[in-house]
Amino acid sequence: MPLLLLLPLLLLSSSATHGRPAPNFSTGIVHAQQKQKLSHLHFYFHDIVSGRNATAVPVAKPSTQTRALFGMITVMDDPLTEGPEPTSKPVGRAQGAYAVASLGELAFLQAMNMVFTEGKYNGSVLTVLGRNTPFHEVREMPVVGGSGLFRFARGYALAHTISLSSSGDAVVEYNVYVMHY
Ligand SMILES: *[C@@H]1O[C@H](CO)[C@@H](O)[C@H](O)[C@H]1NC(C)=O
Ligand SMILES: *[C@@H]1O[C@H](CO)[C@@H](O)[C@H](O)[C@H]1NC(C)=O
Ligand SMILES: *[C@@H]1O[C@H](CO)[C@@H](O)[C@H](O)[C@H]1NC(C)=O
Repeated sequence: MPLLLLLPLLLLSSSATHGRPAPNFSTGIVHAQQKQKLSHLHFYFHDIVSGRNATAVPVAKPSTQTRALFGMITVMDDPLTEGPEPTSKPVGRAQGAYAVASLGELAFLQAMNMVFTEGKYNGSVLTVLGRNTPFHEVREMPVVGGSGLFRFARGYALAHTISLSSSGDAVVEYNVYVMHY
């Protein structure tokens, strides 16, 4: 029997006399056989701020008058769809908030969980935290983590607005590149 296989047995028998051993506070784990992969996700994000069915609502404004919208915080539960039409097949939701955090050009501090509900990623979540300048052609935000199939995720999301209505509703195309196991 190789020594590696014997080790746990030896440890178990030596500690048996003192009752159940406390698990170690930290243990290194090697997953040599697990390879990281790069996934590309493409979908559309619908930020609906107007009407009765709004999916993004302002929740806080500064008590004093500030420049532009500085200090405004909006909470969202925005639908994510396969195609650009709002009626297109839903693939998830973007749940989080964006705060106007720039005194200069419009820029949001955007923090959101992208909760997927379709296909193999159903139930898995990507967490995005970054700076979103909505009037730029393409914005890049870091993917800082994830859960489910996206454990250990890191990567980036590219956001590109494809339409903005006079009432402020926006459709944004997302291309997300993410490394995960
Ligand atoms: C717990 O820690 C001890 C002392 O560092 C070490 O010998 C033992 O292998 C560890 N047990 C596990 C299960 O990692
Ligand atoms: C809100 O959603 C309901 C159900 O989908 C729909 O019938 C209604 O027309 C929508 N209202 C507005 C103002 O978009
Ligand atoms: C996604 O998972 C939920 C919960 O397990 C399940 O109810 C739902 O039917 C699944 N959706 C799809 C499209 O597979």
